[in-house]
Amino acid sequence: MARLRVAVLISGRGSNLQALIDACADPAFPAEIRLVISNEPGAEGLARADRARIPTVVIAHKQLPDRASFDAAMDRALANAGAELICLAGFMRMLGDAFVERWRDRMINIHPSLLPAFKGLNTHERVIAAGVRFTGCTVHFVRPAMDEGPIVVQSAVAVLPGDDAARLAERVLSQEHKIYPLALRLIAEGRVSVTDERAHIADAIGPALTALTNPTG
Ligand code: GRF
Repeated sequence: MARLRVAVLISGRGSNLQALIDACADPAFPAEIRLVISNEPGAEGLARADRARIPTVVIAHKQLPDRASFDAAMDRALANAGAELICLAGFMRMLGDAFVERWRDRMINIHPSLLPAFKGLNTHERVIAAGVRFTGCTVHFVRPAMDEGPIVVQSAVAVLPGDDAARLAERVLSQEHKIYPLALRLIAEGRVSVTDERAHIADAIGPALTALTNPTG
């Protein structure tokens, strides 16, 4: 069966990109990464792509006049790569509404909280300040508003006494590395559909669905 052609967009470290690279290294995995795009020339994740012999493109927003030209450059790179799905993985730039609509239900993001709680930046600091007992991470389809959209997979992580943002981030990140490949696999297998702004996963009911969508649960 043909593998789903994926482009991954990054801005930095790229540890989630690495988790996706590792998953796609299995020939039985139903997706392949055709292209990595970074808006930051110095992104560490670019070296990860190079090591895996995945083509990379840098689209430095600072050198482009406006968002429309940035989005147009992205469109060209994505079309050249034949991308069918976009995975945002630590991509720190807001995309234009028209771009997001063009990729509706074909673009996913990972966020380090249990959405819809704690959208935005400095998530772990705010989680600790709020005193919540659980946080986690979410893979969701992208909508124009930041960190909004139908949820594909989540994983819950306990906030432990004495946690600081760095320790909590580390435990959440290790879950991110599990659920991003899982979400990609489900989508690439054609098992995820969106109806009324909710994502449904075919052939997973009751406890099986819980296990699938919350691997630690
Ligand atoms: C992750 O915590 C992800 O959830 C958030 O940005 C971070 C990116 O980390 N969107 P990395 O670049 O994948 O290591």
